Amino acid sequence: MRPIQEPDRFSHPPPTPPVQLTALTLALLGITFVADVWLPAEVPVGPVYGALLLLMLWEVRPNRVFLVAGVATMLILTELVVSEPGPFNGIRMVNAIAGIAGVWLIAFGIQRYGYRTAERQRALRDAEDLRYALDQSAILATTDVKGDITFVNDTFCEISKYSREELLGRNHRILNSGLHPPEFFKELWRTIAHGRVWRGELRNRAKDGSLYWVDTTIVPFLDATGRPYQYVSIRYDITERKATEARLREQASLAQLGRMAAVVAHEVRNPLAGIRGALQVIGQRMAPDATERGIVTEIVNRVDTLNAIVEDLLLFARPRPPVIREVTFAELSAKLQTQLGNDPAFAQIEIRMAPADVRMHADPEMFTLVMLNLMTNAAQAMKGTGCIDVSVQENDVWYDVLVADTGPGIPPDVQVRLFEPFFTTKARGTGLGLATARRIIESHGGTLTLACPATGGTVATVRLPISLSAEAR
Ligand SMILES: Nc1ncnc2c1ncn2[C@@H]1O[C@H](COP(=O)(O)OP(=O)(O)OP(=O)(O)O)[C@@H](O)[C@H]1O
Ligand SMILES: [Mg+2]
Repeated sequence: MRPIQEPDRFSHPPPTPPVQLTALTLALLGITFVADVWLPAEVPVGPVYGALLLLMLWEVRPNRVFLVAGVATMLILTELVVSEPGPFNGIRMVNAIAGIAGVWLIAFGIQRYGYRTAERQRALRDAEDLRYALDQSAILATTDVKGDITFVNDTFCEISKYSREELLGRNHRILNSGLHPPEFFKELWRTIAHGRVWRGELRNRAKDGSLYWVDTTIVPFLDATGRPYQYVSIRYDITERKATEARLREQASLAQLGRMAAVVAHEVRNPLAGIRGALQVIGQRMAPDATERGIVTEIVNRVDTLNAIVEDLLLFARPRPPVIREVTFAELSAKLQTQLGNDPAFAQIEIRMAPADVRMHADPEMFTLVMLNLMTNAAQAMKGTGCIDVSVQENDVWYDVLVADTGPGIPPDVQVRLFEPFFTTKARGTGLGLATARRIIESHGGTLTLACPATGGTVATVRLPISLSAEAR
């Protein structure tokens, strides 16, 4: 298959021949008739009529040959009538009949041939138009039986961000995003190798690392023995739909979580406060050197951890609306300093902060919490040694606050689940850090993304709209 470039190919009219063949043949028949009248009677002109009729082989409207054959018959008969009777009357009669018979025989032959050719051309044109229609609407590719790409259309190049030259001859695997397990692809190959059509939704990775979802149909083309000789894949971009579905799922689970949090707040937090108070009283009543004091302290610590988890959950499930005001990096650094100063995970970590006079607009408490989460994640990923670089970029529309670390980066299977509530890879994590951070940033009208650049580490980007500054006034 090759791409069809003509922009208006689909609505083209059937091609009309440059020469009007029917008119030309009729004119030539007229000339033959005049010559026939002048020529001696014994010269047979019938074959000339027949030969002229052959011109109609190139006529695109095959039925017109009958019109020409009718005119030729009339001319032959007219010549027979108008010419003077003579000694060759018998021969002329035979010639005329043979001529007319020949003309009609040829006419029928040409009509059949023309009809078949027109049908074939129409089928070919239909196939081309169909391919053009597909080319305009879908992401198309063909591969050989090994999965090596043999054709891609422009839409394929656009979405995958590879050039045609980079794709042709390469295996389809270069688009694999690592999301689908090997069994998924085994099943796909099993289906198409058996000559059956495969349908499904695939997530691919573009050249720049971005991910896109495609609704895919792979059709095997079979040879005479019924074995596939190539596969044609027709795909449609469904990235938007997938994102909407994920958002809807998330909203549904958040609503559920909100309801659950209300119950937890009431049923768990209050008894916890009671237990903690009672333990403290017991602890105070113990002798200063009693060994059980340590146990009581440990229980109080555990209760505090439990309480912190409940607080996290409440914060995530029921965030308050942000109160936006101007925040300087000096203020932010001071807040972070007090929070991170006691954290042993940061003891060996070098923190490079953006200049103290950088200003932005956000809810200071909420923004500090987001930064705390991002920096704690960075420090934990670096296992206590490395560098966290906090920088700010801005343009007319937004600020980007970047938190870059020198850690190991994030594996693809973790990347897709980063913002899922309760997803964690840590033994003592709640998995609410990023989910809460994103909720907070979204309540500011911004976005939070994490990326792993090729140079290593992880960069978290908090994007806040500049319009927040107007809101704060
Ligand atoms: N900078 C980072 N480098 C590597 N992996 C990261 C980084 N940030 C987050 N992750 C991964 O994302 C997961 C989810 O992070 P998140 O902050 O939501 O939860 P957590 O840190 O595991 O637990 P919590 O923050 O609730 O204590 C982490 O478990 C970790 O695997
Ligand atoms: Mg975290």
